[in-house]
Amino acid sequence: MDSTFNSLEEVARLFTRILLDRQKQEAREPVVLPRDPDTLRELLDLTLPDQGRDLESVGLHLGKLVRHTPTTASGAFFNQLFGGREPASLLGETVAAALNNSMYTYKVGGAQVLVELELIREMGQRVGFDNPDGVFTPGGSLSNLSAMLLARDRARPHVRSEGFSGPRLRVYTSAESHYCVIKASRVLGIGADNVVSVPVDGRGRMRPDALEAAIQADLAAGYEPMMLNATAGTTVLGAFDPLNELADVCEKYDLWMHVDGAFGGSSVLDPDQAHLMAGSHRADSVTWDAHKVMGAQLSCSVILVRQAGLLAASLDENASYLFQGDSLELNPGTRSLQCGRRNDGLKLWTLWQALGNDGLALRLARFRSMTLFAAQIVRDAPDLTLVREPEFLNVCFDVEGVSAEQLCAELTKRGLAMVGYALVDDKAIVRLTLVNGQATNEDVRALFGHIRKVAAELSTAAPSRLAQQVPTR
Ligand SMILES: Cc1ncc(COP(=O)(O)O)c(C=O)c1O
Repeated sequence: MDSTFNSLEEVARLFTRILLDRQKQEAREPVVLPRDPDTLRELLDLTLPDQGRDLESVGLHLGKLVRHTPTTASGAFFNQLFGGREPASLLGETVAAALNNSMYTYKVGGAQVLVELELIREMGQRVGFDNPDGVFTPGGSLSNLSAMLLARDRARPHVRSEGFSGPRLRVYTSAESHYCVIKASRVLGIGADNVVSVPVDGRGRMRPDALEAAIQADLAAGYEPMMLNATAGTTVLGAFDPLNELADVCEKYDLWMHVDGAFGGSSVLDPDQAHLMAGSHRADSVTWDAHKVMGAQLSCSVILVRQAGLLAASLDENASYLFQGDSLELNPGTRSLQCGRRNDGLKLWTLWQALGNDGLALRLARFRSMTLFAAQIVRDAPDLTLVREPEFLNVCFDVEGVSAEQLCAELTKRGLAMVGYALVDDKAIVRLTLVNGQATNEDVRALFGHIRKVAAELSTAAPSRLAQQVPTR
């Protein structure tokens, strides 16, 4: 056995040890061991040494670092639009890291490129594209940016070489959409002032009549409407913009229609929730994050495009030292904002292999049922108020007598749970997301127990009444 073989064995041994310790930590310890950054820096000694260490001591050091990292796979993590750990995805991710291919060409990626193409085909067809094009990106923000780039190049082909000229281009997005839309407009030279915030209805869905009014006002003012960003699953309320009605407006005014399904795209996997994405087949492009609801390891996002060839038309560059032989299709680097690119497809493929279509549908159904369970707890509690009926997998509620910000901070500080807050109707509320494959109804019940106990302690209003109402089962 050569030394490489020995060191790989050691890596596998250390990895297993760290992973199993982590699993114990997730089961027994708080979701986070709160420490301020200075204390943590001192405790962990993160300085880079002059002299190297053996793998065993690197592993020991690493194990300590891991222990002070919040446990996003624990059943008490409800903070963001991802959570939990799917073993099959971890397997694919670990193997992809070990293989260390770059996904720009078939020459270097080999079978891994075929995996990507198969996933793009399946996901594209799921959103209703007959012959989908697409590529993996490092996240929904960059998938949305890629879509805006395509829309810009369609509206102003000359910008690719000459830069901007002509009337100002306009992008329409709902007031509830993700901040990355604004960011993309800045990056692409469209400008944040040209992103029009379209009003939403009482459920947080973009109003098609308001979109049309905004387009007409812009046309009258001499602007050039370019793109609609419709959100399928808004970040805070989980609302789905009405895609079919919005597609009618886009067709009428010749706008590029993008669907930001970073969060809600996965709803197509569950026959009972797929109606939320009705109309997605009429879009020009769709973003879908598999690292959110599907449970693939971060990061794993795709930009799906209805018309094949448009990504390459915007992103392919002449690089004879890289793109040698093989078709455009087999060289995904021609469709990507990146050059060297990690393999994000394999972990999704192993996950899909392990769960199958049925398992993925069940996962979605389970999350929805957990969401309804949580919403019912809120409805039944006199000191909690649902601020909206849950549209998807978010439960947004108000806790009587305490600020949501203070409550969420206190839960984290005590290591009880991680949950976030957000603004709804200009008021901070608790935003609970039920997307963690590790979490059960019992975890949800425990979370509400913590919320109400901590709220009671923080509340200046009627602490004893609140404390008595903490559910026991
Ligand atoms: C609706 C929506 N779009 C885009 C994003 C950005 O996705 P990512 O974090 O993968 O960049 C998010 C993130 O939460 C989101 O909720």
